[in-house]
Amino acid sequence: ISLKPYNTFSIPVSSHYFAEVFSPSALEELLESDLIKEQPLLILGGGSNLLFTKDFDGLVIKMSIPGISEEIHDDDVLVTAGAGVVWNDFVNYCVQKGFAGVENLSLIPGTVGASPIQNIGAYGVELKDVFESCSAYEIATGKRRSFNHQDCRFGYRDSIFKNELKGQYIITEVTFRLSRVASINTQYGAIQEELVKRGIAHPTIADVSAVVSHIRVSKLPDPSTIGNAGSFFKNPVIEQEVFRKIFEKFPELVHYPAGNGKIKLAAGWLIEQCGFKGKVVGQTGTWKNQALVLVNHGQASGQEVYSFSENIIDTVAARFGVRLEREVNIL
Ligand code: FAD
Ligand code: EPU
Repeated sequence: ISLKPYNTFSIPVSSHYFAEVFSPSALEELLESDLIKEQPLLILGGGSNLLFTKDFDGLVIKMSIPGISEEIHDDDVLVTAGAGVVWNDFVNYCVQKGFAGVENLSLIPGTVGASPIQNIGAYGVELKDVFESCSAYEIATGKRRSFNHQDCRFGYRDSIFKNELKGQYIITEVTFRLSRVASINTQYGAIQEELVKRGIAHPTIADVSAVVSHIRVSKLPDPSTIGNAGSFFKNPVIEQEVFRKIFEKFPELVHYPAGNGKIKLAAGWLIEQCGFKGKVVGQTGTWKNQALVLVNHGQASGQEVYSFSENIIDTVAARFGVRLEREVNIL
């Protein structure tokens, strides 16, 4: 079937087989079938962090397990959501109920089930700040397993599911520990500026959610009109000595402390400095308001986007001596 509607880059590829899963028991059944053992598998959520460079010669399992439930524990609340719940629906549910912790992650595309894979983050909060546990099935054995916070080894845009356990588990639900006594996180400059503009001195979590959504819409292209997968690259995290050398040559270098004495660079800045911002190359290019986002201007192939990303990596490396790593999963 055509995967074009199933990836936010809108790349017109197809898969050999396609299954949509609506319950853990249906997944268990599928994992027992021969179909699973005979070919490559791709677990799919919203397809918002993928770039297909060719047809997928195997079985795509689209995760559509629904449902949100909660358990109150004094000031905390444990909220559990099915892997197929749309991330932003989950955020809105929490904001409406007054459960604090995910409002800064408003409007991130994709599903709850994919959120631990790269430890999604934005505007000063990462999934790991609210993650309690998740349930998953091991593909090889069909056995169910629970992962706690430590098990997941979260890092910046990273977890065990992208490393040792890559492609081995299917997450069916995630439990979050949220707070019923709001503790607002507005450390991010852009949030503060927008709150001041709106004359809000004491923001609620609904205010933070609205402000974050507003900032995101102004910067990022909407995948329903222009294909993209958000930041195409990660912001590079480098050692002090490496940083100092680059900083000497480029004193305007945009950088942030990244903990453990390391420094995080703004990949968008590096790319913009190389003259790529808003550049159109055939059917692909970078977004006019955010150079870190590669886009499909309508008819791009995955190969075309991929080649363009190689060009960016090489150009940035030649100029700054830093090799950008892709955040988007290449298939
Ligand atoms: P998919 O793209 O479908 O899959 C991503 C990976 O997870 C694949 O490897 C897939 O196999 C695996 N996977 C998916 N579901 C499961 C499951 N249930 N079990 C096991 N493996 C699974 N990300 C951020 O972190 N911060 C942002 O601010 C942000 N902004 C974005 C803005 C835009 C406009 C877009 C298009 C993307 C943005 N992203 C951002 C990236 C993306 O939204 C996240 O990575 C999101 O978590 C992907 O979810 P998905 O369901 O679409 O995953
Ligand atoms: N910048 C430029 N030119 C650009 C883009 C950025 O100079 O074209 C510089 C500016 O100095 C800007 C700074 O980079 O102040 C940071 O830019 P921005 O606030 O847009 O954030 P980002 O570092 O580019 C990261 C995440 C986003 C997340 C935002 C907000 C990564 C790879 N990306 O982007 O996540 O939404 O911060 O927290 O960490 C994603 O992962 O897909 C994603 C969109």
